[in-house]
Amino acid sequence: MDPLTVTLTGAGGQIGYALLFRIAAGDMLGDRPVRLRLLEIPQGLRSAEGAVLELQDCAFPLLDDVELTDDPRVAFDGCQVALLVGARPRGPGMERADLLAANAGIFGPQGEALGAVAADDVRIVVVGNPANTNALVLAASAPDIPRDRITALTRLDHDRAVGQLSEALGMRAGEIDRVAVWGNHSATQFPDVTYATAAGRPVPELLAERFGGADAATRWLDDEFVPRVAKRGQEIIDVRGSSSVASAANATLQHVRDEHFGTEWTSAAVVSRGEYGVPEGLVCSFPVSSDGSGYRVIEGLPLDERARERLDRSVAELMTERDAVAAWGVV
Ligand code: NAD
Ligand code: LMR
Repeated sequence: MDPLTVTLTGAGGQIGYALLFRIAAGDMLGDRPVRLRLLEIPQGLRSAEGAVLELQDCAFPLLDDVELTDDPRVAFDGCQVALLVGARPRGPGMERADLLAANAGIFGPQGEALGAVAADDVRIVVVGNPANTNALVLAASAPDIPRDRITALTRLDHDRAVGQLSEALGMRAGEIDRVAVWGNHSATQFPDVTYATAAGRPVPELLAERFGGADAATRWLDDEFVPRVAKRGQEIIDVRGSSSVASAANATLQHVRDEHFGTEWTSAAVVSRGEYGVPEGLVCSFPVSSDGSGYRVIEGLPLDERARERLDRSVAELMTERDAVAAWGVV
């Protein structure tokens, strides 16, 4: 089998370190050999170099080749899978608009480089925050890359929702299907259990049994489940002292794996084509499926008033972010 060219940005960072060895071990692409292209900024090269030495010491049978560079045109040359993890973190005194602008200054040029030198079949997932709007900037900077090849990561939010349901219902995560995460990868996201099943039974019914009625189940969803999932990133930062790493890397691998090998249902942020009334072009999380050729929004799900209101709130935030980067002339 020909190797697949995988480019990882931010390879010298925390998530990069958690990703590299699992990619090389086959956790992302099965038994397909991989050619790794690692992109760092000059300050991150030394740390990434250390990871490259360790990769060599693992002697992974599927690892075809590794190249480390600080030049996006070299890193994205022939790229088929782009994992865009490297981003500018929020610094002291930095407003959200400054953070959006600083990252637009990264994802704009990376989009241009991908558009110029990546393979025709490239698939891109943006992990670096603010992930949805970074992906929007990238899409605007790479007009020749088909929109359905550009995604942002909300699989971690999806998996967090499954984890919370698993605990509440006393069931294994593997028994839970059809959770949906709508909106932005931020505290406004809406993790939705309306269509979810656990061991084949509707989750809303199971929650009503567990909490003593449908109203009590809705209260648990509104007061505990939704805020716990939506603010889990901050909870991890408060407890660990830095943002999620292993779970974020795991979600990235699952996102790419399911996109490539197919899935009936997961969540991902994709470029909206107007589904569910989300303005075209916004990068918004939806329930999605893949037949192996890329994520497609699962359409036709009923949204009740509560869901509509929550989705609209998160979409309003995405529009504010889009307007902030537009003010900097990047989209
Ligand atoms: P980190 O600071 O440990 O690593 C980031 C790395 O990116 C650094 O080594 C840095 O040098 C590099 N980098 C910065 N700018 C770059 C550029 N222009 N090109 C290439 N590399 C560049 O951070 P981390 O813990 O690995 O997290 C990375 C990002 O992922 C952060 O933005 C974080 O907020 C985000 N994140 C997203 C999710 C999600 O679910 N979407 C979850 C967790 C973390
Ligand atoms: C997460 O969801 O864990 C991260 O996006 C949090 C962050 O701000 O890095």
